[in-house]
Amino acid sequence: MGTEKASREAIERGAAALCAGRLIAFPTETVYGLGADATNARAVAEVFAAKGRPRFNPLIVHVPDLAAALRLAEFNETARQLAAAFWPGALTLVLPRRPDGRIAELTTAGLDTIAVRVPAHAVAVALLRAAGRPIAAPSANRSGHVSPTTAEHVEADLNNRVHMVLDGGPTPLGLESTVVDVSGPALRVLRLGGIARAALAGALGRPVPVAEAESSRPASPGMLLRHYAPATPLRLAAREVKRGEALLAFGAQLPPHAGPIFNLSASGDLLEAAANLFAGLRRLDDAGAQGIAVMPIPEEGLGEAINDRLRRAASPA
Ligand code: TXA
Ligand code: MG
Repeated sequence: MGTEKASREAIERGAAALCAGRLIAFPTETVYGLGADATNARAVAEVFAAKGRPRFNPLIVHVPDLAAALRLAEFNETARQLAAAFWPGALTLVLPRRPDGRIAELTTAGLDTIAVRVPAHAVAVALLRAAGRPIAAPSANRSGHVSPTTAEHVEADLNNRVHMVLDGGPTPLGLESTVVDVSGPALRVLRLGGIARAALAGALGRPVPVAEAESSRPASPGMLLRHYAPATPLRLAAREVKRGEALLAFGAQLPPHAGPIFNLSASGDLLEAAANLFAGLRRLDDAGAQGIAVMPIPEEGLGEAINDRLRRAASPA
């Protein structure tokens, strides 16, 4: 791994590497992000592997300007007002995802919504413009560690797991962005951050509530997330396929099957399986089968997150 001063030339190389599917850590005004091409499911799977996240939470997609954001999501009037008031800046908007946005299913964890942000940092914006495509970026730390505010923090935490760290000095805010859900009729704050709730209320001229679970259970922000779940029932760790079932397969040794099949990875590669997971679930959900038999997936590396998501999909809360 290399840490490099964020010169024009290093930014250009970073952008080219992003487009080639590599991970690049870069500064934003909030914290350092671990960036990947949001349209490349395999690159996004690498982000989860590098962070060691035990589950697939949806990632924030970063774009250089409002025009690029409008290509990815549907903006209602409230969303337009917030974008006009706070972009570029430390505000992330959760909005209905446009189906033609080309974002990988893994980026949004299969949801019909997408979190978008236009950062206010010269290095981040230059990188996004040079890449010319939306960049998914969670904070550039190992899962459970604090968000990094310097290139040294990133290097200490993600050593060897990232292609390049662009060093733009300490991040000005040092606090993650405020995440606001504007996807439904009632807006709510999902995560408090760099933009104060009072500032949001001031811009809109009305109060902005914090989502219920956030205030009562601050330790578990994941509880706020709606999770993608197929309508077709899932049967996990299946070793045979029953009549009327579709097969979500993994590996080369398949049980006899007659119905629809989607193989997450014929070579048994967990990174490939992670990249294919949500697209595969959707495909089989649309295939009209009575159930989906899911072959066993090893509980190691990204298999942990894959199994977590399959268990949630099998027993929707
Ligand atoms: O300041 C920041 O936001 C930094 C910099 C790099 O931009 N990024 C960051 O990303 O903190 P991350 O992945 O650590 O946090 C993303 C937050 C999570 O709380 C996640 O649940 C929420 O955004 N989120 C993303 N997509 C969502 C969606 N479709 N619906 C609801 N929440 C979503
Ligand atoms: Mg984080």
